[in-house]
Amino acid sequence: MIILLRMKLKIIKDSNPIMRKRSLPVDMPLSKEDKDTLDMMLEHLKLSQDEEYAKRHNIQPGVGMAAIQIGLLKRMFVIYYQNDKEIVQYQLVNPQILETSVKKCALEAGEGCLSVPKPHEGLVHRYYKIKLKAYDALQNKDIIISATGYDAVVLQHEYDHLDGKFYYDRINKEAPNQRIPGEEII
Ligand code: NI
Repeated sequence: MIILLRMKLKIIKDSNPIMRKRSLPVDMPLSKEDKDTLDMMLEHLKLSQDEEYAKRHNIQPGVGMAAIQIGLLKRMFVIYYQNDKEIVQYQLVNPQILETSVKKCALEAGEGCLSVPKPHEGLVHRYYKIKLKAYDALQNKDIIISATGYDAVVLQHEYDHLDGKFYYDRINKEAPNQRIPGEEII
């Protein structure tokens, strides 16, 4: 197991057409294999945020990763980051977005992705608030997440991967920095 977790994951880039495919629902109850995969993905994110480790192994820091990014067409993704209050971490399986706000938001600095080597500048328009349900393999139960702002952006970014979408699909090519009326810039 330790060897497995220390294994360097090969991240698939956006030039690979598999990234545009729609991922398939994960069989429940969760198999040990799928749980091990989620553990590896989470471990990768944690290590990617360790500056020294990331430099030594030449990996990009990330706050989220979907299974398709390691070549698995499965509707599951992991999230790991620290906000002002707490560590936000999930291993979400078969997520469904239940509700979205009318209000939109975008990160001022734009978004990045482990699968996108070339930066794409511009506002990535997203819902300011979402409600999502999923099975969380970290907590071993079905959960409902109500997220706003940055937390909601991260969830939507990862969810998009399950449907073969990239963050830059949501940038207005003609006017990349133009806000939507009422949009909050974070
Ligand atoms: Ni991504």
